[in-house]
Amino acid sequence: MQVTTRQETVSAVTDDLLSRMTLREKVGQMTQLTLQAISVGQNEKGDQVALDSVKLRKALVEDHVGSFLNVFNQAMSREQWRALIGEIQQVARSETRLGIPILYGIDAVHGCGYTTDATLYPQNLNLGATWNRELVREIGRETARELTQNGTFWNFSPVLDLGRHPMWSRFSETFGEDPFIVSELGSEYIRGLQETEQYIAGCAKHFIGYGQAPTGRDRTPTFIPQRILRQLYLPPFQEAIDVGVASIMVNSGEINGVPVHSNFALLSTLLREELCFNGVIISDWEDVQKLHTVHRVASDSKQAIQMAIDAGLDMSMTPFTTEFSQLLVELVESGSVTEERIDSSVRRILDLKFKCGLLQEIKAHSADDEEAGVGGKPVGRYGNRSPEISRTEKQDELSFRAAVESIVLLQNKNDILPLNPRARLLLKGPAADSLAMIHGAWSYTWQGADEAAYPDRLQTVRMALNQNFDVVDAEVDCDAVVVCIGEHPSVEKPGDIDELNLAADQQTIIAEAIETGKPVILVFFAGRPRMLSGIQEFVSAVFWAGQPGPFSGQALSAILSGQISPSGRLPFTFPHSGSVFFTHDHKWADKVGADYGVAQEYSMNGVRPAWEFGHGLSYSRFQYSRPDVAVSSESVSVSFSVTNTGQRAARENVLVFVRDHFASITPEVKRLAGFETRWLDAGESTKIDLKLPYEALSFISMANERIVEPGAFSVLVGGQEVEFVLTNICLASRREIT
Ligand code: BGC
Repeated sequence: MQVTTRQETVSAVTDDLLSRMTLREKVGQMTQLTLQAISVGQNEKGDQVALDSVKLRKALVEDHVGSFLNVFNQAMSREQWRALIGEIQQVARSETRLGIPILYGIDAVHGCGYTTDATLYPQNLNLGATWNRELVREIGRETARELTQNGTFWNFSPVLDLGRHPMWSRFSETFGEDPFIVSELGSEYIRGLQETEQYIAGCAKHFIGYGQAPTGRDRTPTFIPQRILRQLYLPPFQEAIDVGVASIMVNSGEINGVPVHSNFALLSTLLREELCFNGVIISDWEDVQKLHTVHRVASDSKQAIQMAIDAGLDMSMTPFTTEFSQLLVELVESGSVTEERIDSSVRRILDLKFKCGLLQEIKAHSADDEEAGVGGKPVGRYGNRSPEISRTEKQDELSFRAAVESIVLLQNKNDILPLNPRARLLLKGPAADSLAMIHGAWSYTWQGADEAAYPDRLQTVRMALNQNFDVVDAEVDCDAVVVCIGEHPSVEKPGDIDELNLAADQQTIIAEAIETGKPVILVFFAGRPRMLSGIQEFVSAVFWAGQPGPFSGQALSAILSGQISPSGRLPFTFPHSGSVFFTHDHKWADKVGADYGVAQEYSMNGVRPAWEFGHGLSYSRFQYSRPDVAVSSESVSVSFSVTNTGQRAARENVLVFVRDHFASITPEVKRLAGFETRWLDAGESTKIDLKLPYEALSFISMANERIVEPGAFSVLVGGQEVEFVLTNICLASRREIT
């Protein structure tokens, strides 16, 4: 029997479909509408989600729309999701000429969001604090399992932007400030999402350079030199493409005066040609239109569409109208866009649908080659066909574990923690009784702020602590005050803020807690740092808890009571002041103090953090041996042992940094080069052998090439620094991104 490869089968199916499609059907596939565009209500308060059969048929049968996204401002049950998507698929399959199913996309940013009976996980920034690749991959897998049940096979996740500006309202969606951790965890998540039979197409976003505006505000202009774009912002996307990410969403903003949606150099020359990305490039929300209405590089909608198509876009999240496809037909008919250009996008979109298991039955309909191997069984995954599963203990357990591993203990004066399990606690602060503050955005609703949207089964921090401790009402009765502060969730434009200071009423709550004279334990629930303005000096312990999700309370309780030692480490630099921001990979000039000296330690006038990137305390102690560093022709081997010298089992996250002492472009003081996570029993030792590729020592030159210059370097690990020398090595053009 002749064996047909999966790729050949995909191509055969899509080529066959393409050859039978009209121009209008093709541009319809390139159009994505939001649910509101085909619904009865318009998402006003109290509106139930109900499809409008006239609008639905118009979108599918007349306008040939190929994809939908989103949800109303309310979560739905799994059954509602399946019924909704089943209804759309039914019309798409049986009433459209070619019967091509639609692909429904959703932002399952930290678990299968917008679904009442699914499990949510900590936000990405928290996952960054776990430094745990295996955990992130597992979360990707479990999210895929739940999305499959809903019939939403396209996930607009992971965010591969860098969290380098703490004012940015999407900081919590990033895995942290550093390109290496974002690359590593982002690619693990994609693997998890796309690797199982439950294949869910990932969407790496937002390509490229999003969130770096000097204003800190969402979608405001950014200035990024090509060299920096390649050094910092490109690697996570390169890695995502290397592991086969199915789609990429474009950054809504502009870089150096050019909106990314109209940037041929970024979308075609860089992304398609240089990075060899052959998946679907989708716009962000209404962003083609915004080339005209906001960015004003196009004088009308038609020119905006032409610019985006010329730049390399495959699909437009329009999301309310089909003007995109109507005007695109006109552009082709007038000869301004070729039909071949349209075909290349539609082929990629159909390939994506095939990967999601949506075209297998089409193939069976038309099939002369019905028996051809597809490299996996056809799954026929229409919304109303998926086998039923319920939220499992495994998923809840995973979410709990992720929450525990993501909480960072920043300060523990006199080892006040862990607490005696009989300790009586007074609980203060708005986050103690808020489900919204511990979840953050993209939860059951977009902004995540509506307390009523959270399912009854979830516990607040107060409810969870009550199960391990005696939670008292009066300060005279308590042994310690736990103050749960933070921020009310918000994201994107609604999340723009003017300053990083903690809200005044919350500062008052902390001050009142300090006045009780009892030990104060500050727990900080927010998807970024907020300024504590030195108040930490007057409290005993401080946690950055982030937004750990549904098991926040249980996780905090397990840590406070000492059942589990904290192990999280900051994936970002916690600034000392609300107006001076910097990252761990800052330059030496940043450190110059008032005496113009370059201090090794942080000085008053040089940059200094409240807590450094990678900081995080444990209840145990770990000792690192001096690293052995050996240079070979391919990599730098770093070997050392880590011993748990404390009294209790604990997890240790091992961070390895490198330092280039002198270079033709000012070198960073240090840069993250590797990380590992280990669970160690008391007294247990583990050997860590890392091979750092030369890339870890490389940088982008003025000629925009990735190079390594010979000279002196250091490895920094566990508070130790070991120097080594690279001789006669210059690896220009080592990786295809140069
Ligand atoms: C966000 C994207 C998101 C899209 C669809 C946009 O506003 O920037 O991250 O995927 O909406 O919800």
